[in-house]
Amino acid sequence: MALRTIITLPDPRLRLVCDPVATVDDTIRALMDDMLETMYDAPGIGLAAIQIAVAKRVVVIDASREEDARQPMRLVNPQVVWASEETSVYEEGCLSIPEYFAEVERPSRCKVSYLDETGKPCEMDCEGLLATVVQHEIDHINGVLFIDHLSKLKRDRVVKKFAKAAKRESVA
Ligand code: NI
Repeated sequence: MALRTIITLPDPRLRLVCDPVATVDDTIRALMDDMLETMYDAPGIGLAAIQIAVAKRVVVIDASREEDARQPMRLVNPQVVWASEETSVYEEGCLSIPEYFAEVERPSRCKVSYLDETGKPCEMDCEGLLATVVQHEIDHINGVLFIDHLSKLKRDRVVKKFAKAAKRESVA
């Protein structure tokens, strides 16, 4: 396992629509191990492969938020196949948009299909925090960020702030 570098706004790769995984092999399993290590280290509760600059439809999640009872989830080609009309609001953040948090409204429950780490097709019902995290991560592999769910005014303000910071860094 290895720690990988997390890319941040305004890196254009965060806007890529990622490629489906054809075969869940050792390379994909090693990728997911690296992603989990990187996510726990950050620390975060979800990470999409594109956040470490790998444009594949791979996601890891641990919404348990308990260090001594970890529940790592490895999802390949995850897809929302059903979402409730009922919504809920969570304050979201993103390792690729550090230190910015905002309330986002999403379906409060959803059903997700995916391949597990052996390549077996699975389905899971999600609710609560897990429903929000899984939708946030599936957004990532479609090039969508949580700030896209905010008003244009709020989004523009964040994008501008990160663009400015990146410019300062490249000059320094
Ligand atoms: Ni994120």
